[in-house]
Amino acid sequence: MLPGPTNVPERVTRAMYVPMINHRSDDFVELYEPCVEKTKQVFRTEGDAVCLSASGTGAVEASVVNLVKKGDKVIIPVNGEFSGRLAQMIEWAGGQAVRVTTEPGVNATLDQVREAFDNNPDVKAFYCVWNETSTGTMLNYLDRIKDLTSRNDSFYVVDGVSIVGGETLEMDKWGVDVAMTGAQKAFAAPPGISPICVGARAKKYMIDNPPSTMYFNLPRYFKYYEESKHTPFTPSLPLLYAYNEAMDIILEEGLDNRIRRHRTCSAALYSGLSAIGLTPFAREDSRSTVVIALNYLPGLEDRTFRNTLSGKFRVLIAGGFGHLKGKVFRVGCMGEVGRYHVMRTISAISSTLALMGYDTDPQAGLKAAEQRLSDL
Ligand SMILES: Cc1ncc(COP(=O)(O)O)c(C=O)c1O
Repeated sequence: MLPGPTNVPERVTRAMYVPMINHRSDDFVELYEPCVEKTKQVFRTEGDAVCLSASGTGAVEASVVNLVKKGDKVIIPVNGEFSGRLAQMIEWAGGQAVRVTTEPGVNATLDQVREAFDNNPDVKAFYCVWNETSTGTMLNYLDRIKDLTSRNDSFYVVDGVSIVGGETLEMDKWGVDVAMTGAQKAFAAPPGISPICVGARAKKYMIDNPPSTMYFNLPRYFKYYEESKHTPFTPSLPLLYAYNEAMDIILEEGLDNRIRRHRTCSAALYSGLSAIGLTPFAREDSRSTVVIALNYLPGLEDRTFRNTLSGKFRVLIAGGFGHLKGKVFRVGCMGEVGRYHVMRTISAISSTLALMGYDTDPQAGLKAAEQRLSDL
């Protein structure tokens, strides 16, 4: 139950047990082209998709180094570790990050973002972390940013690393120019492949203004794909086989069904964990449907709690980041998550609390969760 890497279906693991192929061959085209096409379906875009052999940070960095130039103004809401890192990357690329800062657990409102656009009519791009994995918050106005970016045709970039595949993304419809994720999150594939999708306008900009970088040079990826459906550098072949299989599973389930399942499971986790006496960290209007961050009860020690949970009940969850270390813990609700995971997690957390001397009512938790799970 980590917010990544998530459980990988056996079918996906098995897909990796194949002999290596030549990545400059038709065999590779047979593998890579479907990866690209399925990625576009999941991001709901007619643009280009590049499946980078990298972790999520690589795809996020690629979005920055290919778009942000010295002196460019970029508006970015910041309320946690990953949005903070992204703002830092923008500055390292020479950009000027106009942070819309809110406290952890609370999202910037659309009005605050609008105000930043009002005050910065020369903005070059809007970047955001859709799901702030460090605190369990999720922006819920991605469909309304286009009105702001269209004022001066600024670019719109979404770090969807911990959420694409678990929530609705309409890249083209919402006017998103660049978006990316990591395969180890809601796609339920092993870590190491991170797809980045790029719309036509951003692609043209990148080709006309190529970055001074080699590995994440997206114009090179576009060129190789157009010429041969290859990648410019040696890709992680086993991980691409796994990714391809994971994408099949997503499309077989149906993206809308998958998103509904994620929402149902997170609603059940919030209800069930609240019923056993825990409180979510994020403010209600900002809460994520894929990462549930909870406050530690007074006196509940992080390491002992999580070690007991994993040692005695084999349920793995994550701790807090930075100054939230020891104050919150995080439950991932991604990928393969279903009724079994939800019920078992609530029961295991409740039993662990009881072992550590807290008064909880596991039945109340399971009952509250079950009521939410009825449509699964
Ligand atoms: C929102 C977000 N962005 C970026 C990253 C970085 O991804 P990775 O650890 O795969 O490099 C993460 C990782 O959890 C994330 O949640």
